[in-house]
Amino acid sequence: MRKTRRLGRYHLTYRIAFGGMAELFRAFTFDEEEQQLSVAIKQLLPHFREDRQFVDMLTDEFKLVSYLKHPNIAEVFELVDVDDSLIIAMEYVDGKDLRSTVERARTQGLQLPIDDVVYIVARSLEGLHHAHVARDARGEPLRIVHRDFSPSNVLLGYDGTVKLCDFGIAKATHNRVQTKTGIIKGKVKYMSPEQAFGRKLDWRSDIFSAGSVLYELLTGHSPFSAASEIDLIFAVRDATPTPAMELNPDIPEPLAKLLDKSMSRSRSGRFQSALEFRNALLTFLRAHNPAYRRNKLAQFMKRVWSEEIEKELRAMEDYVVDVPSGPGSNLGKNLIAGALGPDAPFSRFSPSPSRATPAALAPDDPLHHAKTEILVSPMPGAVPARGPAAAAARRKPGPPAPASPFPRPNRGGLTSEAPTARRPPDGRDR
Ligand SMILES: Nc1ncnc2c1ncn2[C@@H]1O[C@H](COP(=O)(O)OP(=O)(O)O)[C@@H](O)[C@H]1O
Ligand SMILES: [Mg+2]
Repeated sequence: MRKTRRLGRYHLTYRIAFGGMAELFRAFTFDEEEQQLSVAIKQLLPHFREDRQFVDMLTDEFKLVSYLKHPNIAEVFELVDVDDSLIIAMEYVDGKDLRSTVERARTQGLQLPIDDVVYIVARSLEGLHHAHVARDARGEPLRIVHRDFSPSNVLLGYDGTVKLCDFGIAKATHNRVQTKTGIIKGKVKYMSPEQAFGRKLDWRSDIFSAGSVLYELLTGHSPFSAASEIDLIFAVRDATPTPAMELNPDIPEPLAKLLDKSMSRSRSGRFQSALEFRNALLTFLRAHNPAYRRNKLAQFMKRVWSEEIEKELRAMEDYVVDVPSGPGSNLGKNLIAGALGPDAPFSRFSPSPSRATPAALAPDDPLHHAKTEILVSPMPGAVPARGPAAAAARRKPGPPAPASPFPRPNRGGLTSEAPTARRPPDGRDR
């Protein structure tokens, strides 16, 4: 048994990843129906929190990002200052990012098939388009540009969902830290030429980046590579990659044409909106594989990540929640609460199921009959993280609760660092 670590409204479990800027944790909270809801917590490294100017910029950016609500975007719930930490709470995507998926598949001798590649990029473009045309409450265009559209910011669910993350981060971090070799280089690789020139960007920059990602997925090579960072910047500015079909003759010609257009050096030569690019890709996909369904991507994900899916399930079973320490427990200050408005999901999150807004669940609520319930034996004074005991403790007689705005808590998880499971397999059906 392991105890979760409490931070604000969230219970942190294992670390998914860490990098030059933040650590990422898998966590959960409770919604108003006392259901566990998975979230991803990005905890910024301490020196970022101490940089006032950076925090102000991040806050401004996240106020804009708070308007983004789309099935292909991982929703941001909070930017919170709590217990000397600055954390971003966002929707947890039960899966892995595109970059690790491609890398892992390669080690297994597998490659993402062309139809899945096209599907992933098309869905990502839907998310991008939503952001590009988003407006604030008064109808003013927000002019959001992602600026870091890259394979590590495309999250793929084990169920085949595709969600973009990290809107708003690139702008705030521009010119800040990140001097470690490899970090900048990783970001430059997918930049548009105008971005590499340091010019003012519009959404067509993201279209070029989406083209670069498509190029890499189709050919297995980055469109731009160089020994040094500065040479890489020059290569991106030139925007003359080796024609994709030379690297992979199996790329259908119509698709190669779309790719060329998306990566046109001049902005006016590209698709003029992410939606236009997405439509062109879906038209290609319908002709290439009329029977394509996202389930195909789900199967690929499950095949590539089967071991991790199992490991992550076991790791989550191992956690028990510490009961929050009474009324004084610190929920922190959500720096973007004003922009999110009074009905924001975070306002319904509680660290304790018993402290959540009372919304009684019908005894026969079908949610409680899901066969994925697992047993976690409660420790004295602890609330079981999941399982029938937790469900029974939460179940109260009363009128049916309104439909939950949230999906069922996710199973499984995402890690660049494999969680260590302590329990032996028990062969239960899930
Ligand atoms: N909302 C999320 N849900 C699940 N996993 C996530 C989420 N956001 C990020 N990740 C995972 O954490 C990794 C690290 O993310 P991040 O800190 O943004 O670093 P980078 O994108 O530079 O690799 C991602 O590549 C992804 O695998
Ligand atoms: Mg990221």
